[in-house]
Order: sequence, then C-alpha cells, then structure tokens
Amino acid sequence: MREYLDGDRLHVVRGEGCWLEDGEGRRYLDGNASVWTNVHGHADRELDEALRDQLGRLAHATMLGLNHEVAARLAAELAGLTAGRLSRVFFSDCGAMAVEVAVKLSLQSWQLSGHGERRRIVAMAHGYHGDSFGTMALGGAQGFHARFEPWFYPVERMPAPVHVECAGLVGASDMTASLAWLDEYLAAHGAETACLVLEPSVQGAAGMRQQPPGFVAAVAERCRGAGVHLILDEIFVAFGRLGELLVSEAEGVKADFVCLAKGLTAGYLPLGATLTSERIFECFLGAQSEGRTFFHGQTFTGNPLAAAVALKNIEKLKRPGVLSGMRDRAWCLGAGLRGAFGDHPNVRGLRQRGFAACLDLGPADRERRWPVDLRAAHRICLEARRRGLILRALGDSIPVVPPPAISAAELDVLVFTLRDAIDAVAPTFSSELIPS
Ligand SMILES: Cc1ncc(COP(=O)(O)O)c(C=O)c1O
Repeated sequence: MREYLDGDRLHVVRGEGCWLEDGEGRRYLDGNASVWTNVHGHADRELDEALRDQLGRLAHATMLGLNHEVAARLAAELAGLTAGRLSRVFFSDCGAMAVEVAVKLSLQSWQLSGHGERRRIVAMAHGYHGDSFGTMALGGAQGFHARFEPWFYPVERMPAPVHVECAGLVGASDMTASLAWLDEYLAAHGAETACLVLEPSVQGAAGMRQQPPGFVAAVAERCRGAGVHLILDEIFVAFGRLGELLVSEAEGVKADFVCLAKGLTAGYLPLGATLTSERIFECFLGAQSEGRTFFHGQTFTGNPLAAAVALKNIEKLKRPGVLSGMRDRAWCLGAGLRGAFGDHPNVRGLRQRGFAACLDLGPADRERRWPVDLRAAHRICLEARRRGLILRALGDSIPVVPPPAISAAELDVLVFTLRDAIDAVAPTFSSELIPS
C-alpha cells in the first residue's frame, strides 16, 4: 500500500474492446484482461444488451429454496458443456467459493454414502485456488499464504510436472515424478482419500506453469482406479483462455467436479459454478432427519444478472469460428513473444499456451539478480503503463494474459510495447544488482 499511495494512480473510467481509458482520456491496452477475466472485450454490445434486458426483469432473487429461470437455463447450458455428464450445478459468487463447494460436496458425499473414512485431500504443488481459508490451505503458493499456514487443514501435496529447460527458454514439461508420487500415494492411502484438486493444463498464478499433454487424463485414470474424486479448477483456463470452452472436455477427461468463475461471465460480473454428477447429487437426497442438507447458502448465489451475461458469453463462444479464431490468434501471441523475447538478454524464461503467457525476467548478467525491494518487474509494468499497456507483475515475472478477443494487430502492440518498456527500464537497474 505504501508503494501504491506514493505512486501515480490510475483510475479507469471506461472500457471498450481490449482497451481501458482513464479520467484524462488516455487509453491502455488491457494486457491482463482485468485479472484474467475478460473474454470478448469491454462494453461488448451483446453482453451489455443481455445485462440490460435482464435488469429490466429481475436483478436478484435468492436461490435458497427458490429458483429463477435464467439460472436454470445457465445450469442446463453448463451441463451441456459436459454432454450432460455433470448434470448438476451449484452456484456461488467467486472462484474460491466454487472450489470450496467442490471440496465440501466431496467430503460430505463420502460421509453420506457410508465412507467417512475418506478424509484425505490431495492438491498439487504451486496450485492456486483462491484466498479464502479453505482455498489457501489447498493452494501451494507459499509466497501468498505461508503466514496463515498454522491455521490450515492438512493437504497432501502432489509434485507438479516440471519444466525442462530447452535452449534456455520455452521448456516442455515432464510429468514422470508427479505420476510416480501419485501411484505410490494412492497405493498407500487411496482408500482414505476423498478428492484430488488441480488446475488442468496451466497453473496461472504459479507463472503459467504448464502440464504436458495427457497429464490430466493420466491423473484422472489413477483417481478413477482408486475411487478418488477428481476436482478440476478450470476457473482460469476455461471460456476461451486456452482456446476451448472447457479444457477437460477438450482433453477427454471426465472429472467428478469442474469449478468455474472468472471468464464464466466474460469478466462482467462475479459468479462461481461447481458442476458435478447425478451420483454425487443423489447422496444429498433424504428426509430432513437424516441430516443430508448441504449447508452453503451464499446470499448472491446464482445472481440473475451474472447468469444472463454468462448465457450470452457461452452463446457467443459457441458461434462458428469464434474459438478457432481465438486459437489462431493465441498462436500469433506465442510466435510474437518468441520472436521478441527468444534471445532477449533480460528474459530468462518464457511459457505460453493459449492466452496464458509469462516472462521470467532478470539482469542480463546471469550471475546476478535484482534485489526484491528494487521491484524491477513492477517498475517495468509501470513503464509499460506509461506507454499505454496494462500488465501486472508477479515477483520478477510478468504474466501476459490479454482478452481472447484481442486482434492480431493489438497483439503486436502488446508485444512491442512490453519489449520497449523492458529495454527502457532494465538497463537502469545495473548499479543495483546483487549476486544470485
Ligand atoms: C485457478 C484459480 N482458481 C481460483 C481462483 C480464485 O478466484 P476468485 O478470485 O474469483 O475467488 C483463481 C483466481 O485467480 C484462479 O486463477
């Protein structure tokens, strides 16, 4: 906050397409899609219209014991994305809640089906699932949450696939150690384990760490073999971010729970959804005295305005050519980043899949590093901002996560503005380097 209070403020007053505008009329390319949420751009005419139309009818009505037409339609639409396999949807109001709901449903369903011994929870190293206590405990992002660890519930930590260095940059990733750990763990504790939680394909907050093709399917197969619920947190990767509606469906993976938020409403409004199967749902049916009730009653669960925008978002994504166009432009993003940064002296790592990319930065001298208080990557982002591009640093890394609707020409602006910002600022840090 000190840094924020002392620095130049940017107050966004307007958005249009992939651009944001401040009070003085300066325009900025939204290079982090307003924290990884925006899909079709800002002030999208059709999304705005869907919202206005819903506003004229119903802004909010509780879903505790009631229902409304727009959430019911959205639930059916979401179930359709899994070809009806995950036919039940529990709405909440953010990503963290969507994941907490999945974990609670898993634990309670085991209790209700006479398997209360299944209490263990597995999550992946470097994972990020939100900042509530339940999701901090699941996450493996030490930098964010370590100080609260004394209050966390126990979680078994599966190693994540590791990136193998390849010409110093874009490394493929290797899943051998992760799967070996999982085999050994399940052989010893599979029967006591309730669920395994992971972000499929890309771990966003970990700096776009990638998993090799087939990894999620291999984990799913092992979970199924051991009767363990698989919970996929698609909050970051779904709805066009990786060029698909759902990554798990595109990879042919059948999870027990899929968690959605962020791009679900194309970045317009807060909404979380937890998809699950009829089998899990049926565990919760019974007489009041059996105590099967699922207690998770969020005030704004399934808000109609958010649900109306989500429906329009999915309709737009399903139109012919929309997702394939996104995949083509994501390819352009990868090519542009590799071209601009493949041999850049300050770029030590570069990972990209879909519209999820990240540059790891450092001084040209590999024996040295930037001190933490230099805030080097943050200062590079401020320089990019002065040049009309909004990005947000993660330590010494800079994620590049534009709206999937971004045009090829705008991608060029993004890549070259970022390179100019690095070139303008990084050399000025040379007197402040410390040994690695
Ligand atoms: C994979 C993943 N899960 C969960 C969350 C938490 O979502 P929310 O901030 O809506 O609680 C995030 C947020 O970045 C995320 O990237």
